[in-house]
Amino acid sequence: MVKILPSLLASDLTNLQTEINLLSEAGVEILHLDIMDGHFVPNLTYGLPVIKSIRKITNLELDAHLMVTNPQFYFKPLADLGVNYISFHQEAVSHLQRAVMEIKELGVKAGIALNPATPVETIKHVIADLDFVLLMSVNPGFGGQSFLPVVYEKLELLRDYKAKYNPGLIIEIDGGVTDKNSAELIENGVEMLVAGSYIFKKKPYIEQIQSLMKG
Ligand code: DX5
Ligand code: ZN
Repeated sequence: MVKILPSLLASDLTNLQTEINLLSEAGVEILHLDIMDGHFVPNLTYGLPVIKSIRKITNLELDAHLMVTNPQFYFKPLADLGVNYISFHQEAVSHLQRAVMEIKELGVKAGIALNPATPVETIKHVIADLDFVLLMSVNPGFGGQSFLPVVYEKLELLRDYKAKYNPGLIIEIDGGVTDKNSAELIENGVEMLVAGSYIFKKKPYIEQIQSLMKG
């Protein structure tokens, strides 16, 4: 069953508690946290103090998407805060397998994120060690961008690798997800769909979320 992960970046950040309560009531199980450092991507978002505050007010699972230059600096602090999933970018790390194992040793699910232009082949030899792969369907840095259909071809190859090397692998898609593309993504094996602007543009959120599940 597909899970919809709201990206809090698009929520009303002045009312995070209310926003998270609404998501929880809408049946959301995992919140997506976009962590940007103004270096790996041309934008700054939030970091450990804000995530600590989020953790205090919710028991929902937390998915930390690290769009930062030195992601390894944050594995342990995020694990200590009780984050459940951590992904870092392939483009930001030289020793992929080592970084993946560091996350898993902390008891956190480990994923690698791929920019739209980064081939899936670059993670072939580490697929067996991963809990999930995050395929970016926009260039990371901002919410509200348009979905890049190039991700479908990547999805096809990733599903081949999954069948061959790691049947338990979870495929996550992030960026430009709306009710216009969600059905096709789900049909193509996506199990975690991140959505920011689409969910938060209109209340009730439960209807936005349900429309993504139906496509
Ligand atoms: C982009 C982020 C995404 C983004 C999703 O850099 O990783 O998670 O906030 O937002 P939408 O759904 O608006 O593209
Ligand atoms: Zn993200």
